[in-house]
Amino acid sequence: MKLMQMDRALAARHYAVHEGQPFYEGLLEYVTSGPVVVAVLEGPDAIELVRQTIGATRPSAAQPGTIRADYAIDGRRNLVHGSDSPETARFEVGLFFREEELVSWQRDVDRWIYG
Ligand SMILES: Nc1ncnc2c1ncn2[C@@H]1O[C@H](COP(=O)(O)OP(=O)(O)OP(=O)(O)O)[C@@H](O)[C@H]1O
Ligand SMILES: [Mg+2]
Repeated sequence: MKLMQMDRALAARHYAVHEGQPFYEGLLEYVTSGPVVVAVLEGPDAIELVRQTIGATRPSAAQPGTIRADYAIDGRRNLVHGSDSPETARFEVGLFFREEELVSWQRDVDRWIYG
C-alpha cells in the first residue's frame, strides 16, 4: 500500500468506465482533491470480501458496519473503491503499482487450508 496523490490523467484512466456519466467530472474532482491510500489485497474471495467491507455504492443503502455506512454520507464523495472483478483488479493494480512493488506471500497454514 502507499499514500499518493492522483492526478487527473490517472483518475480518468481509473474511472474511464464512467466517462460521459453526469457524475464523472465531480468524481474526478473529488478523488484528486487530496491524497489517497492505494493497496493490493490478495487472498481467497478477496474481491467479494473487500466489497462487502466497503458496502453499497450509496451510503444510505449500505449495511451498518461497512465503511460507506459508517463513514460516508454522500456517495458522490467516493470514500473508498474496490475492484469488482479479477480483470478489473489486474487493470487497476497496473495503474497504481509497478510489478516489483507487489509482495505476494502465503502463511504456512494456508497451504493446508486452501492448497
Ligand atoms: N448514479 C450515480 N450518481 C452519482 N454518483 C455515482 C453514481 N453512480 C456511481 N457514482 C459515483 O461513482 C463511483 C463508482 O461507481 P460504481 O458504480 O463503480 O460503484 P462501486 O462499484 O460501488 O464503487 P467503486 O467502483 O468506487 O468501488 C461511486 O462511488 C460514486 O461516487
Ligand atoms: Mg465500481
